Amino acid sequence: MNKRAKFKIIENVNIAKDVFKIVLEGDTKDIKNAGQFINIELESLYLRRPISICDYDDKTVTIIYKVVGKGTEIMANLKNGVELDVLTGLGNGFDLDCDGDRPLVIGGGVGTPPMYRLCKDLIAKGKKPIVILGFGSKDDLFFEEEFKKLGVDVYVSTNDGSVGTKGFVTDVMKDLNDYTYFYACGPMVMLKAICGATDKSGQVSLEERMGCGFGACMGCTIKTKDGYRRVCKEGPVFRKESLIWE
Ligand SMILES: Cc1cc2nc3c(=O)[nH]c(=O)nc-3n(C[C@H](O)[C@H](O)[C@H](O)COP(=O)(O)OP(=O)(O)OC[C@H]3O[C@@H](n4cnc5c(N)ncnc54)[C@H](O)[C@@H]3O)c2cc1C
Ligand code: FES
Repeated sequence: MNKRAKFKIIENVNIAKDVFKIVLEGDTKDIKNAGQFINIELESLYLRRPISICDYDDKTVTIIYKVVGKGTEIMANLKNGVELDVLTGLGNGFDLDCDGDRPLVIGGGVGTPPMYRLCKDLIAKGKKPIVILGFGSKDDLFFEEEFKKLGVDVYVSTNDGSVGTKGFVTDVMKDLNDYTYFYACGPMVMLKAICGATDKSGQVSLEERMGCGFGACMGCTIKTKDGYRRVCKEGPVFRKESLIWE
């Protein structure tokens, strides 16, 4: 069930190069799972902007976003106290039932935020996640410390080697062999590489371009092995086995 409500900005801070964290205060009771997203209305823009939920509690939701265009630029300039019109309860989110108790949790760039809440929920279920965070460079890195504070093993890769392993998240995966399952969110090219790099089952969260964000316009439809699926409604999380990579 999705819900439209007003949320007040109580924090909007720069946490890495072009990356900001917003904490919103409002009614979060329709948020059920890690991996769901909210859709934010912004003044002067026709389409809302979808952003994954990084964390939430009974009265706040935290999101992390990168400035890539007009909408996210507007968001970066919003001050504390501003009220936003937000749709919550969107998307399916991750299924916490996974093979074994050592799931690999992989976030690439601004695909990292939903993996934070996922990690917390997996730990609460008695799992022992291993985390890989992939970024372009040291300046892009965020949330490494927050993940470490959860008490999990955290590996970082950067394309230029300025921090962690030089290369891609798949370069870190090569040296890990005790994981039992995987969860991933990030750029398509990364998700495809991860699915090809492991014979383990897993779930990936896709960030398709969206129109309505709640299942009405069909604008985000993709072809899967189970038929056509709307990323905003039946997704954004899909099982590896159901995806068709073009
Ligand atoms: C389910 C979902 C969850 C998302 N979660 C996050 C998140 O947690 N943090 C975050 O920073 N971003 C996230 N995104 C992407 C975010 O929605 C877009 O970056 C944002 O809408 C861009 O708006 P804009 O007006 O700034 O840019 P626009 O002016 O609309 O576009 C600027 C550039 O970004 C590209 N772009 C826009 N939307 C997307 C998209 N969905 N996927 C890939 N490229 C896109 C455009 O092609 C263009 O090159 C998510 C997207 C989806 C669908
Ligand atoms: S964005 Fe409209 S159906 Fe998915």
